[in-house]
Amino acid sequence: MHAHDATLTDLGKRYWLPVYKPRELVLDHGKGARVWDTEGRDYVDFGAGIAVNALGHQDPDLVDALTAQAHKLWHASNVFYTEPPLRLAEELVRASHFAERVFLCNSGAEANEAAIKLVRKWAASKGRPPERRIIITFRGSFHGRTLATVTATAQPKYQEGYEPLPAGFRYLDFNDVAALEAAFDAGDIAAVMLEPVQGEGGVVPAAAGFLRCVRELCDQHDALLVLDEIQCGMGRTGTLFAHTHDHVTPDIVTLAKALGGGFPIGAMLAGPKVAEVMQYGAHGTTFGGNPMAAAVARVALAKLASPAVLMNVERQANDLRVGLARINQELNVFAEVRGRGLMIGAVLIDAHAGKAGAILDHAAAHGLLLLQAGPNVLRFVPPLTITDEELADGLARLHVALSDFAAG
Ligand SMILES: Cc1ncc(COP(=O)(O)O)c(C=O)c1O
Repeated sequence: MHAHDATLTDLGKRYWLPVYKPRELVLDHGKGARVWDTEGRDYVDFGAGIAVNALGHQDPDLVDALTAQAHKLWHASNVFYTEPPLRLAEELVRASHFAERVFLCNSGAEANEAAIKLVRKWAASKGRPPERRIIITFRGSFHGRTLATVTATAQPKYQEGYEPLPAGFRYLDFNDVAALEAAFDAGDIAAVMLEPVQGEGGVVPAAAGFLRCVRELCDQHDALLVLDEIQCGMGRTGTLFAHTHDHVTPDIVTLAKALGGGFPIGAMLAGPKVAEVMQYGAHGTTFGGNPMAAAVARVALAKLASPAVLMNVERQANDLRVGLARINQELNVFAEVRGRGLMIGAVLIDAHAGKAGAILDHAAAHGLLLLQAGPNVLRFVPPLTITDEELADGLARLHVALSDFAAG
């Protein structure tokens, strides 16, 4: 590994709760799909802050929106109106084609927490007792780190040691229609919650027809369809909303990550069945709908919905897949490349199982910021505005990093 700014990283090791193990570099500034560290080294950014910086770094329109709002009003709380969250809510409703109301918050976990509470409130409003307010989620999912969302996250590794976990969740295998049908037989299901493309669980898209099947079963059994588009939404798969590919109308959609282009914001979109369920006092947040976050998100939303960005997703996704296939022909490291749009997972061959983290070290050493999705999958979620030149440079660096890794 190369030398790094040890005095700074030592502060993290000394003072941070050690729940992360960041790579040994300190990022300083970025432009487009490139980032520089405190020692002047440049990196191509294939991770975008975990699928957040969808418009790249220092997008001039986002910078303008943020600085303009910074000179007006930073915060007001939800006991007063400000213009940015009012406009943003209308724009999200219009863009969604299904939602009637929006709840703004600060993160993905908060958006999902609101969705879980809304499902329960809806079931309660129908006179269903607590034991008949079950939410089905899927193995491999990731919905957040709060107690309720980590319980919705059907992966034991995130839950161990945090028991007692809240009740009311049932886990099934992703894409297993027969198991879903059987689960509904118990008559206690209030909602099915899922990611149209599982992110943290390995970049696994829902199988063709699966979401439609979930929608039909929910309709038959009077249950809600909740889609977590926190990672796969906002243009990442080539359409503004990922579920557009699946031709379904959800009841609730959660957003965060790219919605703020790097400024923290989350949103829960509520369709007609649930939009009136939560009334005065039912839920709240101090920072949610903050005018700074909302001013940035309005611009991010407009740009991410634009044909120019969505066409670039298709173009670069194609080039990325071609580049990965070419690298694999030479080095034979991937068993499979999967995903949708610019959300791509490269599954390592069995011989390299568990080595994703080691490969990320090699990537960083060769000037590439890359992510993993579990121990066996390399995850590619670059800015949606990445250019031909940046993508080609990133692939060249990946080639060197993987050659290095494969050489032992
Ligand atoms: C699909 C999905 N849902 C929820 C979350 C949680 O979002 P946050 O970390 O903003 O709370 C994530 C974060 O990785 C995610 O990928």
